[in-house]
Amino acid sequence: MARLKQQYPANGFFGIGVFNNKEQVNIGTLWRSAYIMGAAFIFTVDSKYKKHTSDVINTWQKIPLFHYRDMDDLIDHLPYDTRLVGVELDDRAVDIATYQHPCRCVYLLGNEQSGLPRDVIARCHQLIKLPGEYSLNVSVAGSIVLYDRQLKKPT
Ligand SMILES: C[S@@+](CC[C@H](N)C(=O)[O-])C[C@H]1O[C@@H](n2cnc3c(N)ncnc32)[C@H](O)[C@@H]1O
Repeated sequence: MARLKQQYPANGFFGIGVFNNKEQVNIGTLWRSAYIMGAAFIFTVDSKYKKHTSDVINTWQKIPLFHYRDMDDLIDHLPYDTRLVGVELDDRAVDIATYQHPCRCVYLLGNEQSGLPRDVIARCHQLIKLPGEYSLNVSVAGSIVLYDRQLKKPT
């Protein structure tokens, strides 16, 4: 008997997180945007997240919030065949306007004081930037990246 071949959408997933975050107040808003825009998970690297009122919806109750000790730990636990995308205002970064988001990826942002260190940038598979000569707030930058992903609907 012939069986119908089922088709599963390959619409992928993404995670988003911050390296060595210093101020919890800065990322609560990012967690909220991440959940609303469809993140599969959120994470910190090198600095644990402590609950903060700026995450008004308690995102950690809705999607997993992981903590990675350092970049080795993050890279060791990247999901299979998933790109690590650094988000940083850097000359080598691709302008988001022309960027095609990978189907499966993990976005990594820097902290408010010092951004992504050079050695961390060097370990990202891809690097993207938003327009402007000056840095945006980390939650604002992350939210814009996720909105751009949603508009472009990677497949
Ligand atoms: C306030 S910024 C860090 C600024 C830091 N003082 C510096 O000079 O690098 C915090 C984070 O937001 C993200 N970000 C802010 N503006 C950005 C932009 N225009 N393009 C890409 N990422 C940006 C980056 O992940 C950055 O590490």
